[in-house]
Amino acid sequence: MSTRLIAPHGGTLVNRLVAGEARQAFKAVAEGCPRILLDAFTLSDLDLLAVGAYSPLIGFMNREDYESVLHTMRLADGTAWPLPIVLRVSPETVRGLRLEPGRTVTLARPDGRPIGLLELQDVFEIDPEMEAVCIFGTTDHKHPGVARLFRWGTVALGGPIWLFDGPQVVPFPQYHMEPAQTRQAFAQRGWRRVVAFQTRNPIHRAHEHLMRTALEIVDGLLIHPLVGETKADDVPAWVRMRSYERLIETYFPKERVILSVFPAAMRYAGPREAVFHALVRKNYGCSHIIIGRDHAGVGNYYGPYDAHHIFERFRPEELGITPLFFENAFYCYRCGTMVTSKTCPHDESQHVKLSGTKVRRMLAAGEHPPAEVLRQEVASVLIESYRAS
Ligand code: ADX
Repeated sequence: MSTRLIAPHGGTLVNRLVAGEARQAFKAVAEGCPRILLDAFTLSDLDLLAVGAYSPLIGFMNREDYESVLHTMRLADGTAWPLPIVLRVSPETVRGLRLEPGRTVTLARPDGRPIGLLELQDVFEIDPEMEAVCIFGTTDHKHPGVARLFRWGTVALGGPIWLFDGPQVVPFPQYHMEPAQTRQAFAQRGWRRVVAFQTRNPIHRAHEHLMRTALEIVDGLLIHPLVGETKADDVPAWVRMRSYERLIETYFPKERVILSVFPAAMRYAGPREAVFHALVRKNYGCSHIIIGRDHAGVGNYYGPYDAHHIFERFRPEELGITPLFFENAFYCYRCGTMVTSKTCPHDESQHVKLSGTKVRRMLAAGEHPPAEVLRQEVASVLIESYRAS
């Protein structure tokens, strides 16, 4: 059997990690350059750029790519790419540090420690309102992505990066795998067709149904929870990780599943983020990705299947990775299994549907939701965490 995996986006897996003796030389350069402290969000983007998760990007976007992404969902050279990856600073920082194209800038952790370099090629202004409309489809400040955008600096610094100390965002070292490592793990197992599952929530029965169904038609499943910055009311990543471990232990064959974390921040950009999640997982070596109901959505900003429809705006070969679309899934007593409206002929009286709010209320009160909604093993982990908080 051939173990040739899907090619990275743009053809080559980017690697901007400085290794070996060169690190000392980079550090010395960094000592003498103007220094910018990165927030957690940008720090994770820097890591992901460096390890090739954002291939073909080799740095923060310049104006040409940024504007092209906003208006066409493609880089200036036409490569599909739906979200801006930008380093944002205030106009005061630009003036104070006299940042201009041609300079080298030191990228530092929030505590000031230098970790990387930016070869500054472009300094340009951002219009947050325009970006909000293009990326989130709204300028409502109640949208967490929009709110963040208006808090950020309005000048962007574009150019290639190097990371000589990192990756920095490694919240779960035992589950940390860079794209080159997931690719190697898939190849070692002889997997060629691998489906990715993106999540920012504890896995409920609908999620499990999607994963199980998808796994039937491919070789392996990468459960790839996003563990970077999320909204304050999302379940913390460490609780989710425990719930994933418990679920996989009991309900999935170990030789078919890899659990590894995706250390990116959540954008809540719905449809555009679905395409972003797909392209990034392609870089990790996945040939397929699950896109269910309201993927990467928040509140009622996106229609339940907008994240399906957006894929029609790309030719399949532009993306390479194949999205597997799923409708809203739930349990049907009459069918005796998880279903969707595509596969079940029965009416609502046979269906188990509980809102997320209701489930959270039950868990907070120490009650187990019906097993048709949430596995008892997962519920136990969540109830414990509510008790401890
Ligand atoms: S997301 O922000 O990462 O998309 P979440 O963790 O809730 O949020 O969802 C993970 C994946 O499961 C997404 O593809 C989402 O569309 C899908 N999904 C979540 N709940 C359902 C459901 N009840 N039916 C179908 N798909 C669902």
